[in-house]
Amino acid sequence: MHVLITGGAGYIGSHTAKILSRAGSRAIVLDNLKRGHRDAVRWGPLVEADIADRSALKEIFEKYPIDAVIHFAAFAYVGESMQAPELYFQNNVVNSLSLLESMRAAGVRKIVFSSSCATYGYPTEIPIREEHAQQPVNPYGESKLMVERLLHWYGQIHGLAWVALRYFNAAGADPDGELGENHDPETHLIPRTILAALGRVPCLQIFGTDYDTPDGTAIRDYLHVTDLGEAHLAALKYLDSGGASTPFNLGTGSGHSVREVAAAVERVAGRDLPYEELPRRSGDPASLIADASKARRVLEWIPRHSSLDEIVRTSWNWLAKSAQVPAASGADQDTKEAGSE
Ligand SMILES: NC(=O)c1ccc[n+]([C@@H]2O[C@H](COP(=O)([O-])OP(=O)(O)OC[C@H]3O[C@@H](n4cnc5c(N)ncnc54)[C@H](O)[C@@H]3O)[C@@H](O)[C@H]2O)c1
Repeated sequence: MHVLITGGAGYIGSHTAKILSRAGSRAIVLDNLKRGHRDAVRWGPLVEADIADRSALKEIFEKYPIDAVIHFAAFAYVGESMQAPELYFQNNVVNSLSLLESMRAAGVRKIVFSSSCATYGYPTEIPIREEHAQQPVNPYGESKLMVERLLHWYGQIHGLAWVALRYFNAAGADPDGELGENHDPETHLIPRTILAALGRVPCLQIFGTDYDTPDGTAIRDYLHVTDLGEAHLAALKYLDSGGASTPFNLGTGSGHSVREVAAAVERVAGRDLPYEELPRRSGDPASLIADASKARRVLEWIPRHSSLDEIVRTSWNWLAKSAQVPAASGADQDTKEAGSE
């Protein structure tokens, strides 16, 4: 299979390219490198271009017999989307529409899309099922929902076959140590906690210690990026065998609190972490946990690397050896996908 991976120089896209190529597919990466890394593209060719560049897309579709697209390319900071929503509607929505048009012109009819639990907004039921109301509370989540709606109508009218994978919190790094998370700024809780343990940020900031959770801190569902990549492979197989277009939640179905994450990092680091307790941030739900039973049942997908200890250990190994990861700036960590800053 020839698969075009948009955003394949980014965190999840690069891990997925490796997994696809190991499984025998040809992974062609398209990335404008605005937020990705050239050296993360090692399992197939890199086309340095924007998803909105119609002539670059035309060339790719002429050069390679692309069977399907996995569409990761997007901006993905909740906080940034609250300050500059236009960036998110332009890049995540308008540019995705352009990609769909390029696919349509070339007759490419299968797509796996990176959606998010941010499309649900504040959950009214935990664990969250795919049927849960989608009421995003920030432009990032809204932009992902808008693309889901584009996919729906392209399916209805143009016969596009699609899967929307609603990720919860991606975490961890390639178990072989070849890839890892390398965002700038780094806003995700696990890498920021590790950076605090490594002395590369001053301390772990804990936002909210009075939630209605067992230890008072917010709970999230962390999924190892390798398990996430495997789910994309399963989604491609599903579409290839004629599976109906549909969304799937991707998570483990169990959550960990901020204090549990901190304790797991302390176990790996072998020392106590400096931390600071701060008030809750508005828009941070107490708990976000996936009901991913549909993906397990329909895609026959089983997360195998997502114990908290394995997530932290692989992430630690990557960050400890990686000189290229910047000492994170003062950016707030993002403990959630669904809330707003
Ligand atoms: N990381 C998570 O926990 C998480 C959770 C839910 C959903 N997602 C979604 O998964 C996808 C990947 O996330 P990530 O953490 O790997 O992000 P990332 O920023 O590491 O990767 C995104 C990549 O897309 C590229 N890109 C962005 N806009 C582009 C454009 N117009 N043309 C070409 N390339 C472009 C960037 O350069 C970058 O390499 C995103 O769509 C994100 O919204 C991520």
